[in-house]
Amino acid sequence: METIQTLTRTFEFSEYISILEISYILASVLFILGLKKLSHPDTARSGNLWAAAGMGLAILFTILFHKTKIEDGTTVYYDGIHNVGWIVGALIIGTVVGWLAAKRVKMTAMPQMVSLFNGMGGACAALISLMEFPKMQNELAMHQSLTMVNGETLAILLGLMIGGVSFAGSMIAFGKLDERIGDVKNPVLRYINLSFLVILLAFVVFIMFKTPVAGENWMIYTLAALALVYGVTFVLPIGGADMPVVISLLNSFTGVAAAMGGFLYNNQAMLTGGILVGSSGTILTMLMCKAMNRSLLNVIIGAFGGSSAAGPEAGDKTVKEISLSDAAVLLSYSQKVLVVPGYGLAVAQAQHLCHELENLLASKGVELKYGIHPVAGRMPGHMNVLLAEADVAYEKLQEMEDANNEMNNTDVVIVIGANDVVNPAAEEDPSSPIYGMPVIKVWEAKNTIIMKRSMAKGYAAIENNLFYMPKSRMLFGDAKATMQKLLSEIKNL
Ligand code: TAP
Repeated sequence: METIQTLTRTFEFSEYISILEISYILASVLFILGLKKLSHPDTARSGNLWAAAGMGLAILFTILFHKTKIEDGTTVYYDGIHNVGWIVGALIIGTVVGWLAAKRVKMTAMPQMVSLFNGMGGACAALISLMEFPKMQNELAMHQSLTMVNGETLAILLGLMIGGVSFAGSMIAFGKLDERIGDVKNPVLRYINLSFLVILLAFVVFIMFKTPVAGENWMIYTLAALALVYGVTFVLPIGGADMPVVISLLNSFTGVAAAMGGFLYNNQAMLTGGILVGSSGTILTMLMCKAMNRSLLNVIIGAFGGSSAAGPEAGDKTVKEISLSDAAVLLSYSQKVLVVPGYGLAVAQAQHLCHELENLLASKGVELKYGIHPVAGRMPGHMNVLLAEADVAYEKLQEMEDANNEMNNTDVVIVIGANDVVNPAAEEDPSSPIYGMPVIKVWEAKNTIIMKRSMAKGYAAIENNLFYMPKSRMLFGDAKATMQKLLSEIKNL
């Protein structure tokens, strides 16, 4: 009778498990397809929905079909998920808060929100480890194990360490981007950081080799505290403008921490999701560093973006200015115009006027395109997002290589609030900190108009020889105000 009952239950259990596993595979497929769709603006919105549907499916099926095998003396039974009311309540609150936050956030505050949400992911991974460690230690103590050296403990400890660092680091990144926390550039912090990292790793090893004692949890809380402190000291000295790179890096940390949870629970959806976030975060971090021609270590120790960076000094060179009326005539009688936007366009919020200029010139038979540098602005895809907000068609955006290939045939380039991404020093001056960074070669066009407020330097804090080149002319002023006046001049022609 007992055997029949157990057999029947075993059958039910495997049935539940296979439904659950199939749902996880489906969820993983949806994540991958969603990620693929995210790579193009036309499909990005639906890609996001596909990936969210995958996550929804995994959560729903886990609540419905997850069973734990319980062996209670001679009886074996399968227990479902408990506290469903709490889980659903938390899901509803999380969904409402996330939805409202995403709806209300301004496009310019998007990096802060990404950082905050990323921090929540890290915190979840760390909390899972905090809950699972005591259970696992008690079990090992019961079996009188001499150490805790096993894959599960490693996954738990790494999940806590990486998740904790990601949470605390993301909160500091949020504070910096929101201008609540300033840069703390003290070289001593680098050494403190390094020592913290060594202590953290040593502590993980210490816990693994410790004899498990039921109920002894001080070391897991100490590890959590160390990870949080390291997260803070790791991000604090990094320059505010480097935060996009740091967020992308922390994002990959969160992915790895979530993947640890996937190992722990043998949950394929969590594992795939974590690996995808971890790898895409790492790829994005590397791409950003490559586009800036800097190593990740250089970003982390913050050797760039200060005011001490070297570069050719202006000396007694002079710049030529162009009047609004001359600029209006030049643009109206051109055939091909290229706008190269940069951080200043975002500051001035001149993207809508750019689109107006594009339409106005189109009505005169002038073709206007935009040359997009991968790290123009201060976050990945900054210029794409700004221009999309102003309804600029995606086809009008040219990648740096394409823009450079057509530069000789371009009549006028208007550089709007860009500086480092159009600096010839990257090509010509081996002593420059940006030497080797790919740039948009606007000086190869027939005419170059540069819109900025002053002769101030850009993010890399170096002089820009472009302003003094024979074909360059400056149009000083706030980009939005200048663009407004330029539009009126063109309309009055
Ligand atoms: P920057 O080199 O920072 O130059 C921006 C220029 O905009 C400044 O020279 C400034 O000159 C001008 N500006 C500011 N406000 C303006 C306004 N209201 N109207 C008109 N002009 C204004 O920008 P970029 O060329 O876009 O280069 C981006 C830099 O950021 C690169 O060095 C890149 O490595 C770095 N970075 C990028 C990222 C990402 S992911 N995009 C991440 C980290 C770092 P005035 O003050 O004279 O007006």
